[in-house]
Amino acid sequence: MNSVEEFFNRVITVKLPDDRESVDIIDQTLLPNEIKRINVSTKEAMWDAIKKLRVRGAPAIGVFAAMSMAVLASEYSENDYDSFRKHYREDSDYLATSRPTAVNLFWALNRMSSKLDTLSDKSIGVIKDALFDEALAIQEEDIQISRNIGEIGFGLLQDLKQDGEPLGIETHCNAGTLATAKYGTATAPMYIALEHGWAGSDMHVYCDETRPLLQGARLTSFELSNAGITTTVNCDNMASILMKQGKIKIIFVGCDRVAANGDAANKIGTSGLAIIAKHYEVPFYVCAPSSTIDMATPTGDQIPIEMRDPDEIRSMWYEKPMVADGIDCFNPAFDVTDHDMITGIITEKGLCQAPYDKAFRDQGIG
Ligand code: MRU
Repeated sequence: MNSVEEFFNRVITVKLPDDRESVDIIDQTLLPNEIKRINVSTKEAMWDAIKKLRVRGAPAIGVFAAMSMAVLASEYSENDYDSFRKHYREDSDYLATSRPTAVNLFWALNRMSSKLDTLSDKSIGVIKDALFDEALAIQEEDIQISRNIGEIGFGLLQDLKQDGEPLGIETHCNAGTLATAKYGTATAPMYIALEHGWAGSDMHVYCDETRPLLQGARLTSFELSNAGITTTVNCDNMASILMKQGKIKIIFVGCDRVAANGDAANKIGTSGLAIIAKHYEVPFYVCAPSSTIDMATPTGDQIPIEMRDPDEIRSMWYEKPMVADGIDCFNPAFDVTDHDMITGIITEKGLCQAPYDKAFRDQGIG
């Protein structure tokens, strides 16, 4: 096994343990200082793990929600299908209230419910096993999806690479292995580059710190540098100077929900990064598994934006509060990048360019 593969095995974000009595996750709130796995077995702890970002990143939330439903359902005592399904729906609706923006949460819960709907003539034992199989299938598919995204993104890297110079890449938040089942989305081109024989030093990845929860500093730089890729952390407000100095040749970001017209919700700060990139003519790509594309949402204006605790800005990372008492803090977790700021949206099926609704439909999405 090569060292990148060993690294992937060390940081599997979401796992189903052999006893299938819980979901086993890396508690991402403790990274990079501690790689601690925790087992989550009650619906309240599952809801809390999503809300508190112990498990985070749109695809990982989807995998976790699917496994959580399979674990919860395996404990139901109901013996008839209708009561079993009623109980299931209550728990699924409850998990759906944990976070509003990442559509993969609802996508995964809907896929699990649809599976259950096809099983009305089966015994409860068979249904319980089938729900585990469906959750594991969602996880397996996510690996292939991010691999495909990575291959397409790697093609873009190859076009830009100049001999003898590390290729400057910027990313925002964490759309990496920690946020998915394996390769990440925005990081997949870099990991696939390693698989194709690039050295870690052939790339230089600038990780936006990502205020206020520091996913870029704590998570992306941690995982990329552990995989041997040259990595630098910059504060979010340094993106402009990096681009002005010509250090960034391409930007990859993930997304939490893409509207039918290509407007893309992602971690707060992404939209500003895209606007700067357009100014400096740096290509800006959104990496989007098709499960993240929500054709039922016409434009970004209809994407619900999660508002979070102001203490994440005021006091969370400091010994003493850094905002004086009584002062309000504005803390949206996501923003929406307008589609005309985006060079292309990479799904597992190919590279989409404007008009996006047509490009998505041509790929069979929606
Ligand atoms: O609030 P988070 O940390 O869950 O936000 C995550 C992001 O914004 C990611 O970029 C997105 O979910 C894509 S992960 C492949």
